[in-house]
Amino acid sequence: MTEPQWLPAWTAEEGERRVRALFARTFADDEGGVAVAAQPTGVWSAPGRVNLIGEHTDYNAGLCLPTALPHRTYVALRLRDDDLVRVASAQTDEPWELRLRDVVPGEVKGWGSYVAGVAWALQQAGHAVRGFEAVVDSCVPFGASLSSSAALECAFAVALDDLLGLGLADHDAGRVELVAACIRAENEIAGAATGGLDQAAALRSHPGHALLLDCRPELSALENATPIPFDLAAAGLALLVIDTRAPHQLVDGQYAARRASCEQAAELLGVPNLRAVTPEGLDAALATLAPHDADGVLRRRVRHVVTETARTAEFAALVRDGRVEEVGPLMNASHASLRDDYEVTVRETDLSVDASLAAGALGARMTGGGFGGSTIALVRTDEVPDVASGVQRAFDDAGLTAPAFLQAPPSAAAGRDA
Ligand code: GLA
Repeated sequence: MTEPQWLPAWTAEEGERRVRALFARTFADDEGGVAVAAQPTGVWSAPGRVNLIGEHTDYNAGLCLPTALPHRTYVALRLRDDDLVRVASAQTDEPWELRLRDVVPGEVKGWGSYVAGVAWALQQAGHAVRGFEAVVDSCVPFGASLSSSAALECAFAVALDDLLGLGLADHDAGRVELVAACIRAENEIAGAATGGLDQAAALRSHPGHALLLDCRPELSALENATPIPFDLAAAGLALLVIDTRAPHQLVDGQYAARRASCEQAAELLGVPNLRAVTPEGLDAALATLAPHDADGVLRRRVRHVVTETARTAEFAALVRDGRVEEVGPLMNASHASLRDDYEVTVRETDLSVDASLAAGALGARMTGGGFGGSTIALVRTDEVPDVASGVQRAFDDAGLTAPAFLQAPPSAAAGRDA
């Protein structure tokens, strides 16, 4: 059998060392006719995330419950005096360059659109923004539904906030503004119609806590996010993340199609969003949709969204009551709903969940947008190696690409490292 491959998180020192070295290799200063390696003004980082439960609820004004990963994206940056943006990444050979004045929705291509999009969104929010030189390196697995794109956006958001003297990252209400800028960057410049869960997790999480997000648009920043102590280690438990390595891509039609179905259902029901449908009102809502829904797709989507927010509330209540070892069945029900009603799981994520449970996990589910990506499993600490081996064996037997395993203690939000 193949040995399970673990992806450890870098220490902050390692992240800083990597981006400083890359910055020096990428940018040079002219000192009296001699080219010398350039220095950044500082180093910032932002985490990837897992969502414990509450999937495809953020854009339906529902509940979600993410935690920040210890795996982070590091940025070394210095401002320029003009509006040129020059960025390079250890993950890609293509350095990226653009003038801020040329950042227009629909016109910017490539990975740098996530970066330039953040600068553009801060400008749109009325802040004076300048160009910059920056490099990026990351231990957040890419394309694994662990929000590597939000980590990229949010690392730049805190770097620019700091050097432009905006001070938004210093308090939670300011961080809410940075969340909004990162969402605009992703929706309007990078062209991915995602909902906001990932950016809130990267910017508003607290170590040792899960973040209960209530996505009703009418709520204030004070009301819409509540940190909940989530000390798995004290309960003898661990959260195992399994990157199934099944290709995952959100900038395609499937995610947007799910969103469109939810909006269509809300319109047919005459409600502003699907949060307005309660578990008690679900049967009546499904009956109202029936005449407009020959293939049953709208009803399946609505059933997932409504039951998922109810499961998330129940999960959060159990954690608050110190009964975290009882959340497993809610995770399993969430996965079944995403598989059967929301139809966003794939063979690899289903197999990973089934194999985790067969090897002793208390609960398991896909996490993030779906269509590939990662699953999570709640596991007794001393059984982590057995569960990883069980999943590895199942992938070997099925002839699938080997998955990668991550440990995920709830970690810190984006901030300055050096
Ligand atoms: C992706 C999106 C989020 C959210 C999840 C599903 O991660 O970026 O906004 O919709 O999918 O819960």
